Amino acid sequence: MFNSRTKIKDLLAATEMGKEVTVMGWVRTFRNNQFIALNDGSTNNNLQIVAELGLLDEATLKRITPGASIKVVGQLVESLGKGQKVEVKAQALEILGDCDPEKYPLQLKNRPTLEYLREKAHLRFRTNTFGAVFRVRHSLAFAVHKFFNDKGFVYLQTPIITSSDAEGAGEMFRVTTLPFDKTPRNEDGSVDFKEDFFGKSTNLTVSGQLEGELGAMAFSDIYTFGPTFRAENSNTTRHLAEFWMIEPEMAFYDIEDNMNLAEEFIRYIIKYAMDNNREDLEFLAQRLVEEEKALPQDKRSELGLMEKLEFVLNNAFERITYTEAVDILLNSPAYKKKKFQYDVSWGIDLQSEHERYLVEKHFKKPVIVTGYPKAIKAFYMRQNDDGKTVAAMDILAPGIGEIVGGSQREERLEKLEGRMREMGLPADDMDWYLDTRRFGAVPHAGFGLGFERMVQFVTGMTNIRDVIAFARTPKNCEF
Ligand code: 4AD
Ligand code: MG
Repeated sequence: MFNSRTKIKDLLAATEMGKEVTVMGWVRTFRNNQFIALNDGSTNNNLQIVAELGLLDEATLKRITPGASIKVVGQLVESLGKGQKVEVKAQALEILGDCDPEKYPLQLKNRPTLEYLREKAHLRFRTNTFGAVFRVRHSLAFAVHKFFNDKGFVYLQTPIITSSDAEGAGEMFRVTTLPFDKTPRNEDGSVDFKEDFFGKSTNLTVSGQLEGELGAMAFSDIYTFGPTFRAENSNTTRHLAEFWMIEPEMAFYDIEDNMNLAEEFIRYIIKYAMDNNREDLEFLAQRLVEEEKALPQDKRSELGLMEKLEFVLNNAFERITYTEAVDILLNSPAYKKKKFQYDVSWGIDLQSEHERYLVEKHFKKPVIVTGYPKAIKAFYMRQNDDGKTVAAMDILAPGIGEIVGGSQREERLEKLEGRMREMGLPADDMDWYLDTRRFGAVPHAGFGLGFERMVQFVTGMTNIRDVIAFARTPKNCEF
């Protein structure tokens, strides 16, 4: 049997000395022709392998290079060296895969930059930074399922190919099998989608919410967790063209219940990572300190990564209305000194500089903003009695900006139809959605958490491209 090995994480925690173990992994370093630092991705901590002089022939020694994969059978012993409690005294060592040190991209004298590693994304999992980030990402994903499962939510897998635009923002990637050169046309010159694979115009989903609402109208509580796609041409550190979103949808919930659930959920998954990935988070906290050394003092984070996460666990999010947010901005020193690039007035869509001011300078903690103007929000949000605002809620997080977008939904058929007419949405195509308002409609609410933005928040990584395995961004779709 090949896979009778022990993972390095387990060996490093072992207390039973003297037993024979098998380990496999990739060489990080090899010094004095004797000491191998071995890593198998289970932890950033390497296992020291000691190959006593004379055990290996000259040819094998030459093949133990950074990146090479090896199998070692040996004895687990207490380590006399500094920095580790145990090590493995090799009895047999086999090279599984060679790695030419001249060509290996991670074989660099200087520490590779994050930019360089983005180009080598197929290998970057082998670095300490990405090892830690992706183990934390895994834990957060697991915690998402655990949180909702424990609360009795049904995990609903909504379609990736769809014919609707859930957000009505028109930022969709088209899905088609029509030929580019001989596009079938209608008499008026428009594309004849009846000839297309699905017989209609289709796209990649921007959100599973609309289908999620259908589920909530039967199961009460559902959540989705899947890839979503946005063809917005935003080249920022917070936007991906393909990102993962978690969208819970709850029947018999109002906006207040929705906010409470979102806060509880965010705290739960952060706590799960802190309890299960402390070593990785401490490593990432230190990485952030190093990264910020290059910044002027006033641009550095006030709290370290761990303190920031602790703070979020222990402090309620600030809750304010959009109108209050605008007032705070208008009265801010930043506004008076004309520090904002974009102007502020009631009705604007808050720009990222405004959101950052609110969370980073004014409140210094996550903020939930409710009651946005209806003109800047999606058609499905419940209209407030003032006739101007909707029961929307955005959660803004320090360093990230918007991390959650959600709302109570418009469950009143006439109001919803009215809004769709106003916004020019095709009510005929949405009949299935409107049915939920015809057959036993109930007050309901939900939200969407951008998973990568959450991973950024927890790991302290500044660029969203560094928290997803293979980033898809404008003009970039490698691997
Ligand atoms: O605010 P959004 O557009 O809301 C929706 O899609 C709703 N249907 C959610 C719901 O109520 N069920 O997106 C939700 C979240 C944002 O707050 C942000 O965290 C993330 O998704 N997001 C992105 N993340 C990465 N790259 C992008 N281009 C993103 N666009 C949105
Ligand atoms: Mg939003």
